[in-house]
Amino acid sequence: MRRDEFSRRLMSEHVLTTNDLIYPVFVLDGENKTEAVPSMPGVQRQTIDILLKTAAECVKLGIPALALFPVVGQSFKSLDASEAYNPEGLVPRTIKALKQAFPELGIITDVALDPYTTHGQDGLIDDTGYVLNDETVAVLVKQALCHAKAGADIVAPSDMMDGRIGAIRRALESEGLIYTKILAYSAKYASAYYGPFRDAVGSSANLGKSNKYNYQMDPANSDEALQEVALDIEEGADMVMVKPGMPYLDIVRRVKDTFKVPTYAYQVSGEYAMLKAAAQNGWLDEKQCVLEAMLGFKRAGADGILTYYAMDIARWLKD
Ligand code: PBG
Repeated sequence: MRRDEFSRRLMSEHVLTTNDLIYPVFVLDGENKTEAVPSMPGVQRQTIDILLKTAAECVKLGIPALALFPVVGQSFKSLDASEAYNPEGLVPRTIKALKQAFPELGIITDVALDPYTTHGQDGLIDDTGYVLNDETVAVLVKQALCHAKAGADIVAPSDMMDGRIGAIRRALESEGLIYTKILAYSAKYASAYYGPFRDAVGSSANLGKSNKYNYQMDPANSDEALQEVALDIEEGADMVMVKPGMPYLDIVRRVKDTFKVPTYAYQVSGEYAMLKAAAQNGWLDEKQCVLEAMLGFKRAGADGILTYYAMDIARWLKD
């Protein structure tokens, strides 16, 4: 069966298409400016005007959705993270500009406080530095409403607080925002693979030596991921996510088999950095390896993949 190309094609089980891709982007305030992210070669922070050009290209390539990650200056960070729900803030302005120019392009926003806290944690903290669950959820609700009112199609809580999906769903319903979807980062692990992302959004310096072990999941666990997903679905999530991607494909498979809901995987910054570094050294064939990794996600049962390679992949699939 493997001898000829025709029979190989006939028995091929999985196929990657541009419909499977979500493109994460870093947004900057200002005009006509891009900044390279040293630990993510090829990835740039972009001001809204430049992002509009990127988005036009994504639409042309057929990428269904973008995921926005803001990069704000130190003066917008505080202990109460109030910039997270400023209706004139960077994220609402970006959503409005994108939805106005490209109504058909899906816009996903990150619901978490780390871009806006002086300490870089995803929530509000007590005197010991421990993240306060319920106080944080109250702010996340304001942040999600702010994004939804600006026109976000999907709000994606990536903070790992308990009960935030239910609280956000109730708030959206009561404000009549009945079409806003919730993508829950349900199984988000406390991963060292987020390092380059924290450089990109400027939270690593603020985070310093502290970590997120007391709210993100332990890489040693997998049953716990199913429990997290069950809770989020029960609370009203439309879609669930496993993160990181490649080291956690067993989790993607278990989640998909157990719940059969739309399931996404995030090929995170560190995974991108590994592939990129090896490719730049001439040690790996970038296109072949990235496409092979994508098939791994498909085989594991992912309905879609967030990847910094989304535009490259879409171009490769076109040739
Ligand atoms: C924070 C957030 C993180 C990522 C997405 N949202 C980092 C973290 O939890 O510290 C990581 C994405 C990546 O590494 O590409 N809410």
